Amino acid sequence: MLDKTRVPLSRPYLGKEEIEAVAEVLRTPFLSLGPRFREFEAMFSEYMGGRQAIAVSSGTAGLHLAVRAVGVREGDLVITTPFSFISSSNVILYERGVPLFFDIDDKTLNLDPGRVWDYLRKKTRRDKEGKPIDIERGKRVAAMILVHIFGHPVDMDPFLEMSREYDIPIVEDACEALGALYKGKKAGTFGEISVFAFYPNKQITTGEGGMVTTREDRQAELIRSMRNQGRGDNGKWLNHVRLGYNYRMDELSAALGIAQMKKLDAILKKRDEIAKLYTELLSEVEGVEAPFVAPWARMSWFVYVVKLKERIDREMIMKRLEEAGIDSRPYFPPIHLQPFYRELFGFREGDFPVTESVSRRTVALPFYTGLEPEKIQYVVEELEKAIKKEGSF
Ligand SMILES: Cc1ncc(COP(=O)(O)O)c(C=O)c1O
Repeated sequence: MLDKTRVPLSRPYLGKEEIEAVAEVLRTPFLSLGPRFREFEAMFSEYMGGRQAIAVSSGTAGLHLAVRAVGVREGDLVITTPFSFISSSNVILYERGVPLFFDIDDKTLNLDPGRVWDYLRKKTRRDKEGKPIDIERGKRVAAMILVHIFGHPVDMDPFLEMSREYDIPIVEDACEALGALYKGKKAGTFGEISVFAFYPNKQITTGEGGMVTTREDRQAELIRSMRNQGRGDNGKWLNHVRLGYNYRMDELSAALGIAQMKKLDAILKKRDEIAKLYTELLSEVEGVEAPFVAPWARMSWFVYVVKLKERIDREMIMKRLEEAGIDSRPYFPPIHLQPFYRELFGFREGDFPVTESVSRRTVALPFYTGLEPEKIQYVVEELEKAIKKEGSF
């Protein structure tokens, strides 16, 4: 019998291994700065092909440190996407930088490289060191934050080329993309710095938590110091050599992370199967578009987001799903239209039409590693009914 109590949007995938791992930490006196976070970092580093890994208290904390590490300063422009979770852009504001948004590709939903190329070629000049300056604003283009949205990798090649040609460092926001592949290579291994997140709706969780990775020792050292109150590396406890934060990951979270990492391959496989089943069942449903996956991409499924046809009333559909006990969310509202972004920068509707059109039509359906096939079937049936009831098809 199908449990119809509710189909939640997301659920962590935890077993007795995770419970035991956390309980074991509680039996020791080391709840922070003990052996577990180092072990988690070592495991993650190995998974990322040897890039240095620095465990932090959240993805947002990691992105903040990344923005500082690549040297974003007050007034600097940072190229990024308006179609993302707000923190990929907020971290620029933390350093009094300015997000320079470009519209997205309507298939991958990631930043459209063509628009960024166009801007760099036509709207920037070089300073004495060859770095790009925005001609109109007279400001430095200091970095790019590329977000692998929903676990679909960004088309990295053109961005890597821009990064080389214009000397702009890339920060990869891989918070949603652990295990995704771009042309066979892991997302998070391209940028100078990359960041992952482990909130409970992510592929693996540590409760709250994140991981920064970099291939540069100098950056790793700086990020480790900033994570821990700006401490110097001479071993003296209260020796602070720079502005730092408390962005440390605690031992309980790290223990959870280790247990989850051991299951990562199995988790990614299960999520793949769930997405496949959704896509297969939805191919019969009119008015709904399943997520696009580029031929060069291996998706790491973070969420399962469908697009409704323009004339379908999304709010009504979501209400009907809700009545059937199914959680869903409009993912993502555009960042530039958030009230405080409008206020700060004067953004308006129409500024990024592709992002806005996608944002009006997307719905995240229940998606998590333990989601049973019967529930997927139920969600799709109810979605189909809701669309038919709306009289659109
Ligand atoms: C694209 C993106 N960036 C950044 C974050 C921030 O991660 P956290 O919630 O761990 O701070 C998230 C998490 O939801 C995200 O989806």
